[in-house]
Amino acid sequence: MNEAVHTSSEFAQRVFSGIQPSGGLTLGNYLGAMKRFVDMQNEGSFETVYCMVDLHAITVWQDPEKLRHATRELCAGFIAAGIDPNQSILFNQSQAPEHAQLAWIFNCVARMGWMQRMTQWKDKAGKNQQNASLGLFAYPALMAADILIYHATHVPVGEDQKQHLELTRDVAIKFNHDYGIDFFPITEPVIEGTATRVMSLRDGSKKMSKSDPSDASRINMTDDTDTIAKKIRKAKTDPDALPSEEQGLEGRPEARNLINIYSALAEQPVGTVLRDFGGKQFSEFKPALSELAVEKLAPISMEMARLMLDSVEIDRILSHGAEQARAIATPILKKTYDIVGMISSN
Ligand code: TYM
Repeated sequence: MNEAVHTSSEFAQRVFSGIQPSGGLTLGNYLGAMKRFVDMQNEGSFETVYCMVDLHAITVWQDPEKLRHATRELCAGFIAAGIDPNQSILFNQSQAPEHAQLAWIFNCVARMGWMQRMTQWKDKAGKNQQNASLGLFAYPALMAADILIYHATHVPVGEDQKQHLELTRDVAIKFNHDYGIDFFPITEPVIEGTATRVMSLRDGSKKMSKSDPSDASRINMTDDTDTIAKKIRKAKTDPDALPSEEQGLEGRPEARNLINIYSALAEQPVGTVLRDFGGKQFSEFKPALSELAVEKLAPISMEMARLMLDSVEIDRILSHGAEQARAIATPILKKTYDIVGMISSN
């Protein structure tokens, strides 16, 4: 092994993040992740790599045609939300086989006990773990590979991915330690803003999720104006007026959630929103939230629908993105194989 040993500070500032094309995009995905992806792209100090993680999606059953459609729709969502394929690398995971190749190495680095502790594994596998796919169990090792195959330094995600990012750091630390080389960076999770955990509109203790059986629990990025307004009107609340200080949201999860959503959409701190709405009833606040949500989301959903009319163009963007992604991933995989002791062809 004669690779140069480099320190974390020598890694380029590179952002990686992914979204599963398993069903439609929700407001949670948009505010907790995608909007942050756009900010980091536009900030200009990072190289940004964004991925539709189709290999992760199939850890639970996906209808093949629906998966293809959802992957294209997600790509349209990225672009409609402000990701520019000329500024960011935008692609689907299965077109860059280096992810799965590095994931195998990481399956041999990560420990069973680490995986067993993952709350997402416990939630998704439920009581019938014996019948869950092996892929669902190994999911976090593939996620570590997604990030580390680009030597990404920053990963913007919602709160629910925090544990997986800690595991990514553990994989990098163990690999570096086992092979005595400072090769993989120790990634920084970027979990920021007021919408890192957008909750269900029907139950303030549950995360807004595309897999919730109740469609009324979430706002989908493809919902039309009337549907958005109706879901907000029917969102669960409590009978009290809104507080004018943040402490007043203690023990009021539904109120906090709607305020957080307003704050993230308006790009205003929670304190400012409460100054404007403190003392007002939900009957006054909800129409304002509806109006704001429609103003911000309708242009995105309209642009998504327009982009979806040309699937050939979407496929072209994805395959171009995959080429760019592979240009970064291939030498990192090659170096990894070399570190591990594999003979390569050149
Ligand atoms: P996924 O597809 O479940 O969600 C995509 C992103 O959206 C965020 N998110 C939320 N944020 C706030 N409130 C919510 N209710 C909410 N719901 C979802 C998620 O935190 C995530 O950032 N394992 C990942 C995908 C993945 C990945 C990666 C992410 C695969 N490889 C590498 C980062 C880096 C997942 O299932 O996300």
